[in-house]
Amino acid sequence: DFYALILAGGSGSRLWPLSRALMPKQLLSLNGERSLLQQTVLRALKAFSPSNIVIITNEEHIFEVKNQIKDICNEDKIGVVAEPMGRNTLPAVLVGLDSSKKPEESVFAVFPSDHQVEDEDAWVEDLFIGYDLAKKGWLVTFGIKPHKPETGYGYIKVGPSLKEEGFKVERFVEKPTLEKAKKFLSDGRYYWNSGMFVFEGKLFLQEIEKQQPELWSFWERRKESPLLANYSKFPDISIDYGIMEGAQNVAVVPASFGWDDLGSWEAIYRLGDKDEQGCVIRGDVLALECENSLLFSYGSKLAAVGLKDLIVVQTRDATLVIPKSQVQKVKDVVKALKQKD
Ligand code: GDD
Ligand code: MG
Repeated sequence: DFYALILAGGSGSRLWPLSRALMPKQLLSLNGERSLLQQTVLRALKAFSPSNIVIITNEEHIFEVKNQIKDICNEDKIGVVAEPMGRNTLPAVLVGLDSSKKPEESVFAVFPSDHQVEDEDAWVEDLFIGYDLAKKGWLVTFGIKPHKPETGYGYIKVGPSLKEEGFKVERFVEKPTLEKAKKFLSDGRYYWNSGMFVFEGKLFLQEIEKQQPELWSFWERRKESPLLANYSKFPDISIDYGIMEGAQNVAVVPASFGWDDLGSWEAIYRLGDKDEQGCVIRGDVLALECENSLLFSYGSKLAAVGLKDLIVVQTRDATLVIPKSQVQKVKDVVKALKQKD
């Protein structure tokens, strides 16, 4: 069997004040009418039957997740699993494996739900190239051509080409320093990791046993003591740090689909529909003589006059105003606000 595990439990602090603990990035509609999660589910339905799709999310978000699925399709066969607390992506994937009937004999595709994908037919084709490689014993990643030294991604160094349309991976480096990211970019042999993976359950579990003995011991005892009942004791670790960096048999399929992480207000601006003055506007906004700005307002009126190259995002109880060139600092805002609380 071939399963889709959709990860939907992250928080996405760089899109404050729109993304909040209770309304994280994947549940927002950032690039159109549907939320990123809804887009991810609809995409998965192009390649998987509903009963082979499992969404792993946090207990806090389960109501919203179920509502969003109901909104887009009449499907009660899609599985939804709720974690009692976030333990990052590796435990979440393990919970996904556990929700299948025969994890050892199945193949799994892991999908993040915080991305935009363009050209879904190409996406399905790449996915099945990944499936073929996975059946031959590879942990498969999907590589995106980098265009800037982004430090928030994983980097994949390509090695020799494989018979199928993929390459052996020489190394996987998660979230490098800026200095390293610059080197990788100019080196030319590195891809960004898209965050999607395909692998056989058997191989993945072998890697857990080898690299994450603590998690493995929970997995081994899961029949007597269910994973979710022990969740608070799980290590907080991502699949990238916990498995991919240390695995030997990693392959990469260069993505032929369009990909964007929508990770910042700058990306939302860049990909948004612009008016003649280059503004991306949403919600209750009156804009006079504004240029090249993103102006969003939800739940109250925003009047903007003569603004240039600014991001303004207003919600009922918080407003962000920041130059477009400094959007990476939104993280610091969230950090500072948390410390005040
Ligand atoms: N269920 C669950 N539980 N899902 C989670 C959790 C969790 O504790 N933490 C994160 N997720 C979900 C997020 O909602 C997102 O859809 C996906 O898992 C990836 O997690 P992120 O936290 O967004 O990861 P990242 O963006 O820092 O890095 C990953 O994605 C990059 C591409 O955007 C890595 O795979 C990088 O290597 C990759 O380049
Ligand atoms: Mg992400």
